Amino acid sequence: MRFDVAGKYDVIVIGSGISGLICALELAKKNKTVCMLAKEAVTEGSSLYAQGGIAVPLSESDSVEKHLQDTLNAGTGLINIDVAREIIAHSGSSLEQLISYGVNFDLTKQNKIHLTKEAAHSTSRVCHVGGDASGRYITKVLVDKACREPNISISQGTVALALLTDERKNANGVLVEDVTRNHYALLADDIVIATGGIGQIFTNTTNPKVCTGDGIVMSYRGGAELQDLEMIQFHPTGLFDKGEPFLISEAIRGEGGKLKNIKGEYFANRYHEQGELAPRDVLSRAIFFELEKTNSSHVFLDISNFDKDYFKSRFPSIYQTCLDRKIEFFEIGIPVAPAAHYFIGGIKCDLSGATNIGNLWCVGECASNGFHGANRLASNSLLECIVSPHFLVEQLSENSKVTLNNVNHFEIDLDLKEYDDDIVFRMTADLKRNNSNTLGLIRTKSVLSKHLDYLTSLFELLNPDKLSLNCQVQELKNMILLSFLICQAALKREHSLGVHYRQDFMSLPSEFKHSISRKNTELYWLSQMSSSSLTANLR
Ligand code: FAD
Ligand code: SIN
Repeated sequence: MRFDVAGKYDVIVIGSGISGLICALELAKKNKTVCMLAKEAVTEGSSLYAQGGIAVPLSESDSVEKHLQDTLNAGTGLINIDVAREIIAHSGSSLEQLISYGVNFDLTKQNKIHLTKEAAHSTSRVCHVGGDASGRYITKVLVDKACREPNISISQGTVALALLTDERKNANGVLVEDVTRNHYALLADDIVIATGGIGQIFTNTTNPKVCTGDGIVMSYRGGAELQDLEMIQFHPTGLFDKGEPFLISEAIRGEGGKLKNIKGEYFANRYHEQGELAPRDVLSRAIFFELEKTNSSHVFLDISNFDKDYFKSRFPSIYQTCLDRKIEFFEIGIPVAPAAHYFIGGIKCDLSGATNIGNLWCVGECASNGFHGANRLASNSLLECIVSPHFLVEQLSENSKVTLNNVNHFEIDLDLKEYDDDIVFRMTADLKRNNSNTLGLIRTKSVLSKHLDYLTSLFELLNPDKLSLNCQVQELKNMILLSFLICQAALKREHSLGVHYRQDFMSLPSEFKHSISRKNTELYWLSQMSSSSLTANLR
């Protein structure tokens, strides 16, 4: 089918989370014209729901090296140390920039930024806004600024369906469905993928609906290398409740909240000396084992040691949500269970977000530059989101060459099959449930192999290589292909490392290697190396 070109820009940024917004604002400063696409409202994405805050080594007793050491300890061997050092070293200046934009971080009585503690941090270094509403406040400031910027045009409710590449396989456009259900191509010199995480491929997740991994799959189809897809972080304390996904911030445990099982026993210290503040992979598994042992669906976060008024002002969103959902949180505790939270894997890139595809960049949660290793340190994601766009924009402005030509339309081979809405809905629910039972906290070869067969059988029903103009169908195709690639990588990594726990291969690897998935290629491994050699290899 033929699609007309409806607009040409210097840069298209797919995604309007904190990483996409900062990227767009920085590009606009360099006089680039930017089209920013958002699948739903411009504010919707994981960024909006971020609670704990941003990790920055601000206190007098803290330093970049200490923060780096904690990041390395949590990340268990797979971290690119050069990338991690650069990101942490630029944390202070990026935080200053947010403050200059109008983000008012919560202060102590002495008028200093209040720093809280989260798991696996050796000291308090997490800055927050509005108590536990960090994401909401930061997003609002950035959206307001982007809306006032003449170089940025924001297309809300516009779904990127496919990446368009030129005859040299460089990225030069995006096929979209807009809010009025029209389909057309948008062209640009450079494309930035900032589409966030993948939590929606699971039933229990902290992520909002837009997090289905579209940008990652789109890049894969365009030839991009994907890295460490088996590395999915589960947050220990998702609210266990029938309502919309909701997180119970780690900061509560950082400030004294305790976990107890349904028999009322405190158990965290039995699994790790840091108890409630053990690294997330360890604590999530501890909860999983405790649920199995007590044959229950959730444990409780005991907050009875908090002063009620303090809790209400320090964690207002959690307080209100518990009230709204009629949870007797002070009396009984908050019911919690592990939930899919953060995608460590993603599009393989260097510090600046450059991929192996010309003019294709990535930033934020969808990017995999080696910062988080095999287990992300709490509040290092928003840190990456506020720092990485600066490296990206610097590199893009230097590198960019004009690829736009006189193309006025694209021909794309489509899947024209009609799909029944109910069947698509049911298949999506089945996929999520099956992923939760196989790709979760504990993995084994026999279960993964069977799941791979199931996913392969779905390919016959819904060919993931052919594009559908039905967004629901296309989203499901993306989720199926991504689940398949994750399952394949989980099966091939025959050891346990960080969030990837194989009950049949419990030992650590002899060498730290990244798994690489690429279209039409067998999954292969790359040794962990420094960012400079990584960049050289990519180009
Ligand atoms: P997002 O904010 O997820 O934005 C993704 C964007 O991509 C959205 O605009 C979406 O519409 C768009 N998009 C997706 N697909 C398409 C498509 N096909 N077409 C067009 N647009 C598309 N990290 C921390 O460091 N500290 C915290 O306190 C913290 N708390 C968290 C709490 C929760 C509940 C969650 C879910 C995560 C939390 N995280 C936290 C993780 C962190 O918030 C995310 O990793 C980060 O916000 C991701 O930002 P992003 O810009 O990459 O993507
Ligand atoms: C939280 O507040 O627990 C989330 C922090 C994070 O995911 O980094």
